[in-house]
Amino acid sequence: MSKRIVILVSGNGSNAQAIIDACNNGRIKASVVALISNKKDAFGLQRARKHNIDAISISHTDYGDRESFDLSLLEIIQSYRPDLVVLAGFMRILSSHFVDAFAGKLLNIHPSILPKYPGLHTHQRALDNGDKVHGSSVHFVTAELDGGPVVLKGIIDIMPQDDANSLATRLASTEWQIYPSVVEWFCDDRLTLIGDEVLLDNKTLPKGGIVYE
Ligand code: GAR
Repeated sequence: MSKRIVILVSGNGSNAQAIIDACNNGRIKASVVALISNKKDAFGLQRARKHNIDAISISHTDYGDRESFDLSLLEIIQSYRPDLVVLAGFMRILSSHFVDAFAGKLLNIHPSILPKYPGLHTHQRALDNGDKVHGSSVHFVTAELDGGPVVLKGIIDIMPQDDANSLATRLASTEWQIYPSVVEWFCDDRLTLIGDEVLLDNKTLPKGGIVYE
């Protein structure tokens, strides 16, 4: 049976778009049943509406604390009975209660070669460190910020003329490749998380995941 995906965004939603497109063209055997944003003006909401996907905004500023916001968010997501929850530029730290509720079916994309540079400003930090390469990582989410087991990494070279903007732009195209791939594997029942081990086709992936070629 076709799987049900809920996507969470805070902004542009280009990764969400790549996943919606891959569902629509049959590459990912799933439907995006809802797209939820914590920002009511997120462009990602417009993308969802264009595809007749339920587009919901829930503002964390309407809640007194993280727990009560996360609880409402959790209830909305659960009402869609998702097989997979995809964080695609969702810029909120989620409480462990939330993360535990979706253990093994919560994915995130982070713009660094994890475990390097969890948190913000990853492009600038890679440049400041004189790194030769940069990348993005798709990983299962655990309670540790940007710390869950990595599935797939996309890596790009850093050029001498790069700045944070040019890196972000080039990395975006890599992200549109790697995120749909991981979602496709998950929806084909090829990808599972057991404890802190990622299994692809019943084989344990190396710590740090695999590199997209
Ligand atoms: C992506 O580059 C993603 O890796 C990053 O936000 C961007 C969202 O772009 N995520 C994080 O920084 C999470 N810590 P999009 O809205 O166009 O998909």
